[in-house]
Amino acid sequence: MHASPTTETLDHLRHEARACRACPLWQDATQTVFGEGPAHAPIMLVGEQPGDKEDIAGKPFVGPAGQVLDRALQDAGVDRGKVYVTNAVKHFKFVPRGKIRLHQKPATPEINACRPWYQRERAAVNPALVVALGATAAQSVLGKIITIGKTRGRLLDLDETAKALVTVHPSYLLRLPDADAKAREYRRFVEDLTLALPFLQP
Ligand code: URA
Repeated sequence: MHASPTTETLDHLRHEARACRACPLWQDATQTVFGEGPAHAPIMLVGEQPGDKEDIAGKPFVGPAGQVLDRALQDAGVDRGKVYVTNAVKHFKFVPRGKIRLHQKPATPEINACRPWYQRERAAVNPALVVALGATAAQSVLGKIITIGKTRGRLLDLDETAKALVTVHPSYLLRLPDADAKAREYRRFVEDLTLALPFLQP
């Protein structure tokens, strides 16, 4: 599908997505977590899927990964309030482990089932830049499986109207056990996000 200005509004999409049954993930999740942000933001950030906190709040990136993302955006000089934030998959996929719900990576059929929502969101927002955070987001945004290491940190042509930027997912930084690696990878993440900055300026 082509991203072009459309009459389909985000409110309409958000409402319709609440009843999505395109894959089985809706059955165990609390709710559909749709994107949020300015309706015509110049930048769209795409994550993987809501986590435990997002599933309960009904908002993307409000948990631990969201805190890393917020700090990195701030360090890159990118105002999150000016960016539309969403996920490739809009229901939380998990397995229960006692009292906690353990995050599970979405599978390709789930990513594909949810992709029309991302495509319709993108068509409605019509951003000049789409930033994919991690491999799942990149798969949805680019329509193919890519290697983050080979693709990250440079502007790619998405089509004639928009660029794409691939970088790591903030949860990857949270999982790194070594403090030096964490600091180094965080700096690279901020560097990647800095490439988005010119898209915010008129
Ligand atoms: N991870 C994501 O990819 N998205 C969220 O909304 C939260 C955590």
